Amino acid sequence: MSGVEIAGLVLGCLPLIIQGIASYKEGLDPVKSFMGWERELPHFIRKLRGQHAHYAQTIEILFAPITSEVELAAMMSDPGASQKLWKSKEIDLQDRLQGTYSSYQSTMADIERIMKKIASRLDLDRAPELTRNDLEAMLAANPKKADDKFEFRKRVRFGMSKKTIKALLEELDECNKELERFTEKSEKIETYRKASKPTYATRLQRLQRYAKTLHESLTVCWQCSCKSSHKTRLQLESRGSVFASGPRKNSDASKTSFNVSFSTLSSDGNCAPWSYQAAEICVEEDDDVCLAPMASPKPKMTKSVSFGTPPAYAVLDPAGRLGPSLSEVKDLCASIQQVHKSASTIGFSLDNKSKLRGAYSIDTSEAYVPPSGLVSLESLLDHPPVVNGRRSKLSKKERYSLALTLASSVLYLNATPWLANEWTVRDILFHRTPNTARPIDIERPYLAPTVIELSQCAAKTKKPKVFKNTVLLALAIALLELYFGTTAEKYQESESEDGIADPSVHQNPWMLCSFAHTWAETETENLSAAFLNAIRHCIHSFSVPGTSLQDAECLQAAVEGIILPLQEELSQFLGTTLM
Ligand SMILES: *[C@@H]1O[C@H](CO)[C@@H](O)[C@H](O)[C@H]1NC(C)=O
Ligand SMILES: *[C@@H]1O[C@H](CO)[C@@H](O)[C@H](O)[C@H]1NC(C)=O
Ligand SMILES: *[C@@H]1O[C@H](CO)[C@@H](O)[C@H](O)[C@H]1NC(C)=O
Ligand SMILES: [Zn+2]
Repeated sequence: MSGVEIAGLVLGCLPLIIQGIASYKEGLDPVKSFMGWERELPHFIRKLRGQHAHYAQTIEILFAPITSEVELAAMMSDPGASQKLWKSKEIDLQDRLQGTYSSYQSTMADIERIMKKIASRLDLDRAPELTRNDLEAMLAANPKKADDKFEFRKRVRFGMSKKTIKALLEELDECNKELERFTEKSEKIETYRKASKPTYATRLQRLQRYAKTLHESLTVCWQCSCKSSHKTRLQLESRGSVFASGPRKNSDASKTSFNVSFSTLSSDGNCAPWSYQAAEICVEEDDDVCLAPMASPKPKMTKSVSFGTPPAYAVLDPAGRLGPSLSEVKDLCASIQQVHKSASTIGFSLDNKSKLRGAYSIDTSEAYVPPSGLVSLESLLDHPPVVNGRRSKLSKKERYSLALTLASSVLYLNATPWLANEWTVRDILFHRTPNTARPIDIERPYLAPTVIELSQCAAKTKKPKVFKNTVLLALAIALLELYFGTTAEKYQESESEDGIADPSVHQNPWMLCSFAHTWAETETENLSAAFLNAIRHCIHSFSVPGTSLQDAECLQAAVEGIILPLQEELSQFLGTTLM
């Protein structure tokens, strides 16, 4: 049993044991209870009640930050009946106690041992079917009545020497004090983490704002008559610098940009003379902290900068076309056409008034046109492409790195038109390459925006959803698919007796949730620690009502529970150290 289950068990057993001993005392022959050690029973019972109160208080403080009020009330008032709830808090408690979790566990084991010793001398009924733990069997056989008391069908007997019970009570007192110290320590950890908290969430929220703005700007810039034949796709990136610890360095690496690919349906060849164009869109950040040199139209000449030195942006952009000097894009199709011939990658900038400016050439190597038709992640998992005569499955390294990229992208693209709440691996797309040895550009996954008009009016008419993190549930499924290199459908087929996948699983988020949960729990031993944690975090965040990635706390927790472990495992796998 885990230390969390034991915490609940002990909390449930303490009043039962106390009432059992009290009932023994009341049943005693009055003469006997005035003689010998039994004279001191009231004193012991009082002490045990004190220990119970102390223990219950500490446990409440320990679990309050990781439970809702309703959950905590159920857990505290009837631990015997809420064992599942207790068990479900294990990861959160580990997360809360961090390094002290193992000490907490050993203290809990001590408390359990003490309780078992006392219980062993108390002849209360035990549930015969529960043999793994005596306390559990005792609690199950003696449920609480409505008046919060236990009912004993027979006279209770208790036999323990005064010396033993005294020693056990002293030990229990020590354990309780120790437990309280962990709680205090974890409060400190909590305060420390709260203080350092907003960093990831703030960066992600800013990125999310830019992604929304980018989508709006691109939408208004498609003004050509052939706009319906153009498609824009956003490249997904793992954005390691966003998740790096410590403040971002004020260097070129901190500039925010988005890579996109534009394409034209080939059937519409007479519309535009270009069929494919890669582009990088640099965001003029509106925040001094991570102001990139190109973000200001005029370099800020502080006194420390000598006027003889050319401003940094001049190096980045020799022609000085960045900032307001770049012309505003009115017709994206025409702007692409202007530079298309001379560059394989072109650049735009997104100014702080959400205006797209450009275009300029970034990479002047000859523009190539990838073979048309994108490949989805689903089909890569289901039907790996044939390379040199054999199917080339995604390698472990590719799957690990895609997992991190998807997870990171979900955290900054959720609630933007780029990512549907109920996305799947079908929505993750890759361009083909003309290279037969590497026919698909696995390193650059793309996402097409979801149909905005639809999702916008749906959001208005739909009732507010209680469960908001479906986007994370989708991530849990994708992580399982990537880890095992198979799609959910294929996994369902392999698990079902008739070899047919049940499509209804994907029609209801709760069924999907239970499917993900079962998949993860069945394969617990085969999943790596980081994947298991990340998947559990996603499922948990989905099933807690009211939580949403729109809240900084939830976003921050997602970074800590999903991204950082995956990042660390990937870097261990690649044999590199963290940035
Ligand atoms: C985005 O595009 C730029 C310009 O081509 C390139 O240097 C950069 O590596 C791309 N980013 C990613 C993550 O592929
Ligand atoms: C946009 O940038 C310009 C120049 O850096 C600045 O003067 C202006 O105040 C900014 N506007 C907003 C809305 O941040
Ligand atoms: C782990 O994977 C192996 C090989 O696919 C499988 O045989 C085994 O049942 C899996 N273990 C669990 C606990 O599911
Ligand atoms: Zn056009």
